[in-house]
Amino acid sequence: MLRLRSYAKINLYLDVLGKRPDGYHNLETIFQSVDLFDELRITRAKDVTLVCADARVPAGEENLIIKSARLLQRETGFGDGARIELRKHVPMGAGLAGGSGNAAMTLIGLNSLWKLGLSDERLLELGLELGSDVPFCLTGGTQAATGRGELLEPLPPVIDPTFVLVHFPIHVSTASVFNDPAITFSREGTIDGKTPSFRRAIENLKRGEWDKVVFNRLEDIVFARHRELARAKDQLLNQLGCLGAVMSGTGSTIVGVFDSFETAESCEGALSGQFNVSLVEPETPRLM
Ligand code: C5P
Repeated sequence: MLRLRSYAKINLYLDVLGKRPDGYHNLETIFQSVDLFDELRITRAKDVTLVCADARVPAGEENLIIKSARLLQRETGFGDGARIELRKHVPMGAGLAGGSGNAAMTLIGLNSLWKLGLSDERLLELGLELGSDVPFCLTGGTQAATGRGELLEPLPPVIDPTFVLVHFPIHVSTASVFNDPAITFSREGTIDGKTPSFRRAIENLKRGEWDKVVFNRLEDIVFARHRELARAKDQLLNQLGCLGAVMSGTGSTIVGVFDSFETAESCEGALSGQFNVSLVEPETPRLM
């Protein structure tokens, strides 16, 4: 049996450059893995099945775990199956790549269990067929990304931040945010593949200047739909001593960044009566 952890990610920076001919958007983003994870247990079996005690998790062919297994079977002609047990801890539809992380770990797990011998490069390509965040989830750590989010550039580990994640019982559809008529795009041009703002954010990240790192262009769209997200961000910044606060991905999670574990803990205490909150730290999984 294989036991794998599928880590959540946050976006510390997210800008949208424009819409592409294939319908996706070109992004500039900083991804960070955090120590909030789902657990997968995979055993060989005749058929592919997914078992999850959480009734909110779809267990059929629409689940990214099953899609990942089917993609590997199609790719290699492998005929056997696997029983995959999922313990879900990462909130869904929350901008934390919970589903993409599950897909990534299924690709890695089944490549090993089924002895398929697929290269890291091929797994990254297959991952992108499953979702824009899957290539990052296959690698993890701290990375700058462009394109759909699959052109990855590893960054040095971040300097000791603690993150407070504020969760909302709101499932945001990624496609609905990117297709919102109110979406805006960066007006900056790129030089050698990056805008000056993105370069500055990366440099500020290396220095731990969090207030000059965090940004998410999609906040306006999601905050217009859910005012409580804007209020939580405001509370983090103005009352709880956080260095930067930002929505992750297309929401609904709001991330507060702290440079001291103690301040983050007291923030967690202050918010926990009001919201579901997680205190998390950066994670640097060695996945491939
Ligand atoms: O790739 P993923 O399945 O996560 O994307 C979900 C939806 O989000 C896409 O169908 C697309 O509408 C939108 N999207 C986008 N540009 C990206 C990533 C996602 O337009 N870079």
